[in-house]
Amino acid sequence: MSQQFDLIVIGAGPGGYVAAIRAAQLGKNVAIIEREPALGGTCLNVGCIPSKALLESSEKYHEAKSTFEEHGINASSVKLDLAKMLARKDKVVNELTGGVAYLMKKNKITHIAGEATITAPGKVSVGEQIVEAAAILIATGSKSAPLPGVEVDGENVVTSTEALNFETVPEHLVVIGAGYIGLELGSVWKRLGANVTVVEYLDRIIPTMDAEIAKDAQRILKKQGLNFQLSSKVLSAKAIKKGKKIQCVVECEGKEPITADKVLLAVGRIPNTENLGLESLQIATERGRITVDENYQTNVPGIYAIGDVIAGPMLAHKASEEGIACVEKLYTGYGHVNYNTIPGVGYTNPEIASVGKTEEQLKEAGIEYRKGSFPFSAIGRAKALGQTEGKVKILADAKTDAVLGVHIVGPRAGDLIAEAVAAMEFGASSEDIARTCHAHPTLAEAVHEAALAVDGRAIHF
Ligand code: NAI
Repeated sequence: MSQQFDLIVIGAGPGGYVAAIRAAQLGKNVAIIEREPALGGTCLNVGCIPSKALLESSEKYHEAKSTFEEHGINASSVKLDLAKMLARKDKVVNELTGGVAYLMKKNKITHIAGEATITAPGKVSVGEQIVEAAAILIATGSKSAPLPGVEVDGENVVTSTEALNFETVPEHLVVIGAGYIGLELGSVWKRLGANVTVVEYLDRIIPTMDAEIAKDAQRILKKQGLNFQLSSKVLSAKAIKKGKKIQCVVECEGKEPITADKVLLAVGRIPNTENLGLESLQIATERGRITVDENYQTNVPGIYAIGDVIAGPMLAHKASEEGIACVEKLYTGYGHVNYNTIPGVGYTNPEIASVGKTEEQLKEAGIEYRKGSFPFSAIGRAKALGQTEGKVKILADAKTDAVLGVHIVGPRAGDLIAEAVAAMEFGASSEDIARTCHAHPTLAEAVHEAALAVDGRAIHF
């Protein structure tokens, strides 16, 4: 006999589990189907959270070794216990995935373990089990994209999942792709002592980021010891046995091959759509991603999709927003996502964050703008922190002064961007930010000063 629900959510990542909770809050009987043993998806298990745990630990190690001294702290016998560092990361992950399981119970959401296939509108099979609901929401996320010629073996040539668990610090790690994943995990292993080379196809890093800020970020990361080989198309990468040792060789078009003991492939992600039943139901896709309308409904009535499997940036918070909006539209008739105010954050040190339009996008669209920048080197709190690299840049409409984009490379940029997101969400002008009182001494004063700088009246620079 089949089980009946109002809504079946396939995938328990930050898109799916958040949508399930919102639907339960709206009084719906919800089932969530997940094929992995732990809830939370890529983000909690092998993405955002474990990488941030390692970024935090590796930064502490790096600071103890290199910057404590200037604070007058002698920590000359600092040693790395990598196994313990990895165990702490696992503990952080387990506590959070356990937290999602608790939230499912609290909201009376039925968790079904297994791989889901949609067999007909309203019908899903999970092994032998059949579950039925008026609405089905696909929130199956994404996985690491392959690159032709790159032989991922999970041990020497790896994806981000395995790069969270190297048992020893590699001597030389080659990272293919200078996006967020490559830079974050490259930073982790660099701080722990690896020699890291980032190989990037384009002539710049983080292609989605404002070019000036990306250039600043590259200069800062280079100073930290990350090697960049830009304008390099990787043709192949594989592990080769050399006697008892295994060596990886990375070949790039027109360049000398690079040898390394580990290679991380980080050239983007592709949606998880296999075995869902998309083909038999003729659910439309475009470049592998499921096509949806403004209500997140696919071309098959009653089947919806959100997050990494549909168009847009592959970000956890974008998926959560869409999950909530989809369910609210379905059950209340109203929900919304403002795609112009989805922040992007890279958790390198310093962090890189942005919201809205880049200068390149404004130029391309022919929109006239004014620009205000302010460096962290002139911010008292940044000096006290010993983190003075980077700047805040605000782009405002030349006629209306509406904030069109904010781009930051600097300490805690990922937290600072929240003010810019809120300002843009409320349709603020740069003058509004400039006239808002910012506490002293805080890093947020850099946002304030950049807003003043739009009008040429920054105080401290
Ligand atoms: P990405 O798409 O951001 O960057 C991949 C890079 O690889 C690009 O710069 C691209 O030009 C380069 N590339 C492609 N083919 C190449 C080749 N043959 N040789 C050399 N370089 C090549 O992908 P990434 O970093 O893997 O991230 C995947 C997704 O996950 C993105 O959507 C990203 O936004 C998201 N993500 C976000 C994070 C965050 O918000 N902090 C952290 C991790 C991932």
